[in-house]
Amino acid sequence: VFSVEHVLRQAMLALSKSRRAERLVTTSPLTSDVVGRYVAGDIGAVVGDLTRKGLLVTVDHLGEEVTDQAQAEAAVGDHLALLRLLPAGADVSIKLTALGLRLSRGLALDHAAAICAAAERKGVTVTLDAEEHDTIPGLHAVHAALRREHPEVGVVVQAYLPDSLDRCEKLVGARVRLCKGAYTAPGAYTRTADIDRAFVRCLKVLMAGTGYPMVATHDPRLVRIASTLAVLDGRDLTGFEYQMLYGVRPEEQARLAGLGARMRVYVPYGSDWYAYLMRRLAERPRNLAFFLRSLASR
Ligand code: FDA
Repeated sequence: VFSVEHVLRQAMLALSKSRRAERLVTTSPLTSDVVGRYVAGDIGAVVGDLTRKGLLVTVDHLGEEVTDQAQAEAAVGDHLALLRLLPAGADVSIKLTALGLRLSRGLALDHAAAICAAAERKGVTVTLDAEEHDTIPGLHAVHAALRREHPEVGVVVQAYLPDSLDRCEKLVGARVRLCKGAYTAPGAYTRTADIDRAFVRCLKVLMAGTGYPMVATHDPRLVRIASTLAVLDGRDLTGFEYQMLYGVRPEEQARLAGLGARMRVYVPYGSDWYAYLMRRLAERPRNLAFFLRSLASR
């Protein structure tokens, strides 16, 4: 038996892939409040503001799935332009589908390598986001190949995948961002308790390992468990980081930074915000009500 929340979530995730719904939503008088809550308008100003508050950033130039090589090359250009705006110590989050992963693994690898090389010159790190389940084998193949030249390149593990623990065990010495998972996948854990359990199992492996764990969650219980495990595993405050999304629990972000923790905010920007916004709404039915109210108020 599925809960109302589960059904709503599936519906929102299906809408996130619908071109028709995208046209409807992006051409409707959607208040800029809803988009502006989760997506940075002026990226330079937002990064400057967060940095002044003692927060680290990872910036996502919005855009997914390209259908030809020219679009993938344009996405590389967008990322190189983004790098020019970022201070040393920043991170960029990239989506391999935007760089052509579904066209060819080799193409995505070449494009990601060009971004990693430019980022290194600026003292900026790169993290590869995890997307739909069919892209995960390609993601890890590209990550492994990139690590030979760019050992600092990070990758995301989605705890909801049944092999997430296995992944974490294999990613020895790597920068790994652990998150619950924002898409759907056959065989994936769907019950909250199962996803949380998988998250904690992965976290234990990453914290006890030799890599750099990036704990991407807003879940207060998992944040507490991460901080406890870090202490037990003898990691100091520079030995791991928390990550949260721009616009989600900003007071908690400030609290953790105030304690001296490394707190990195994932900041998406750009005009291609539709699928990103739909996934954020799917995470929380209360957000959906907020979204519908803002549509109705126009
Ligand atoms: P959960 O959804 O249980 O939320 C815990 C609490 O946080 C909620 O009760 C609420 O208070 C608050 N909260 C959570 N989401 C909220 C929202 N949208 N609006 C308002 N409040 C909210 N996924 C993926 O598949 N691939 C990826 O590469 C990434 N990358 C990534 C980077 C970073 C930095 C983060 C924080 C997350 C991701 N994700 C991701 C998304 C992730 O998989 C997951 O969908 C969301 O983080 C929500 O899960 P939580 O762990 O926050 O818990």
